[in-house]
Order: sequence, then structure tokens, then C-alpha cells
Amino acid sequence: MEQDAVLDVAIIGLGWWGRIIADHIRSSRNLRLVRTSDIDEQARGFASERGIHFSTSFDDVLADDRVQGVVLCTPHSQHTEQIVAVARAGKHVFCEKPLSLTGDDVARAVAAVESAGVTLAVGHEKRFEPPIMELMRLCKSGALGVPLQVEANFSQDKFLSLPADNWRLSTKEAPAGPMTATGIHLLDLAVAIFGEAESVHASVKQLDSPLVNGDTLAVLASFKSGGHALISAILATPYVGRFAVYGSRGWAEVRDKSHPECPQGWILTTCMRAQAPQVIDMPAAPAVRYNLEAFADAALGRAAYPVSRKQMVANVCALEAAFRSAASGRIELVCAADSLARH
Ligand SMILES: NC(=O)c1ccc[n+]([C@@H]2O[C@H](COP(=O)([O-])OP(=O)(O)OC[C@H]3O[C@@H](n4cnc5c(N)ncnc54)[C@H](O)[C@@H]3O)[C@@H](O)[C@H]2O)c1
Repeated sequence: MEQDAVLDVAIIGLGWWGRIIADHIRSSRNLRLVRTSDIDEQARGFASERGIHFSTSFDDVLADDRVQGVVLCTPHSQHTEQIVAVARAGKHVFCEKPLSLTGDDVARAVAAVESAGVTLAVGHEKRFEPPIMELMRLCKSGALGVPLQVEANFSQDKFLSLPADNWRLSTKEAPAGPMTATGIHLLDLAVAIFGEAESVHASVKQLDSPLVNGDTLAVLASFKSGGHALISAILATPYVGRFAVYGSRGWAEVRDKSHPECPQGWILTTCMRAQAPQVIDMPAAPAVRYNLEAFADAALGRAAYPVSRKQMVANVCALEAAFRSAASGRIELVCAADSLARH
């Protein structure tokens, strides 16, 4: 039997998510983890237990000819510069969300991968969850009619135990509180349905937790194509994940049974006009690994990566407007992708 081609990759950042990604790569069909890097020497133990090369130098990773792709699992404010550096080294990039924190930065990151001719992928694994793929298929096929509105919620309480000086609680790394942690995944799905956003109204409050950059977020995004997304993301309540799209002929709703860290399956409910709702219990699937494998397939020239660069840019432009709105208390216009500085 013919063996699948394999992409040799390195992970930068071996914290919570980098370690989850490392184990997914080790069980993937088309990626091989050849080295890891973290500025924190304490991460070495995790790599040694798995027999993977570890260093504290990002430059060593970029200089290693064996490394064909780099997976970035570092704090948000570093993503843009690291994407640019990896692309300039001629390597493919998988970057955790959000790709960047501003429209100009994401345009710079995309320009760097385009000029290097490498693949860019992003850690929005919800796109690869089987019920979300079915919801998107129903939407794109027209079965739901014209998409009118998205209602979505991604909440959790994992950050309540973080020390107060953790980067995730800083306004520089995570403006608008839950927006970069979980809200961004829902915004990405809304962009996949509606395209570019036109305006965003976001409100963030610290209601009952030590999370100084906010524990409770409500977002109303309006899209150029029509349609709204109502996004709820709370970091002080137990896990809930729900994504629903309402169309002029029917609606579809996905409810998660657990956090994507440890998927336990989903309930997909669909309802077409004049018909009874249909409820499907869907088994667990490793969407994080599917996303990584799609990255490798794209880098190896086997298939296009399913999240377009246009959508990546549109998502960060809407994210930036959410930051501005949370700070100003006003509805903020989303910068147009074609007005962004290209570097
Ligand atoms: N896709 C998802 O569902 C999901 C879930 C959780 C986290 N994430 C994303 O993963 C990324 C990392 O988050 P986390 O929760 O793992 O954070 P974390 O703090 O647990 O881990 C980050 C790691 O990066 C290391 N680091 C920092 N700067 C570095 C540098 N310049 N070079 C090498 N290592 C460096 C830190 O020492 C730390 O070990 C973020 O972008 C986050 O949004 C995505």
C-alpha cells in the first residue's frame, strides 16, 4: 500500500495547547513532530518524555532544514512577527488563533506567506467538527434558504484558576476579555457564513470573577451581505458550546457535549419549514487533529486549505472592531480588507 506523504513540523510554545497539539500530531496520518521549542526550560520534560528534540531557541528551529512547517502555540501578540519569520524562512505556518490582533497585522502576515509561497493555516478547529461541517453544507447548498442570523455561545471557566499575572488576563494580549479566547472561534464561523462584517458592537464586563480584562462578553456583528451574528462568550460559567444558524427555509443548531480539548460528541438539530425538527446524536471526532492534517495536506500540495486567506483577514478585521467597540462603547465600523496596509 502506498504510504501517505508526511510533513515534518516543529511546535513553538509547549504550554496548554501546544502540548495538546503535540499529541495530536503524534497520532496524525500526515505530520511528524521533529522538534519543539519554548522559552520556558520547564517545557523540556514534556518533550523528553516523548523523545522529541527540544530547544529554547526559535532561530534554531527556523535554521533547521528538516523542519518543513511550524506550528505556533504562543501568546497572541507574538503571532504576526512569528508568522512573518517562519514564512521568510520558507516554511509552512499553522498559527493558533487569533492570527493577529489588528487588520494591518493580519494583512502583513498574509502578505509574508503569499510572497514566500507557503501555506497558512489557523487553529479554528470548529470548522472541522463534523456537525459544523454539516451545518455549513446545509447553509452553502441553500437548504436553509437565505442565512439570516447566527446565535452562538462558547463559554467556559478554565481561566478562573489562572494566576493574576498570566498573559491571558492582560489587556494587551487579550483585549475584550473572552473575545480572543473563545468568541473568535464563533466570529470565524459567522464569517464563513456571511463573509466580511460591516460593523460590530461589543460589550465586555467583569461581573463576578477575578478576570480583570472581563468575564462576560456580548457581541452583535452585522455583515455586509446582510445578517447578524449574536455572540456570547463568558469565562465565569461552566462550559457551554452552541452554534445556530437561522435561514429563510430552515435552521440548524449544534450543541457541544464537552470542551474541544476533549471532544465527547455533539447534538445536531435541524428544522425545515413545515417539518418536525430532526435531532442527530453525533459521536466524538478529533477536530483539532483534522485541522492539522488539512494544514499538512495543503502544504504537501494535496488539497486546498479550507479556510481562505480572505476569511482569515475578514475575521481579524471584525475582531479588531470588537476590541474598539468594547473600549468605546459604540458601534464600530470594520476596516475594509482592501484598505489595509500591505507590507
Ligand atoms: N484552538 C483552540 O481551541 C485553542 C485552545 C487554547 C489555546 N489556544 C491558543 O494557543 C495559543 C497558546 O495558548 P496556551 O493556552 O497554550 O498558552 P500557554 O501560556 O499555556 O502556553 C504558551 C507557551 O508559549 C511559550 N512561549 C511564549 N513566548 C514564546 C516564544 N517567543 N517562543 C517559544 N515559546 C514561547 C510559553 O512559555 C508557554 O509555554 C494561543 O494563541 C491560544 O489562543 C487555542
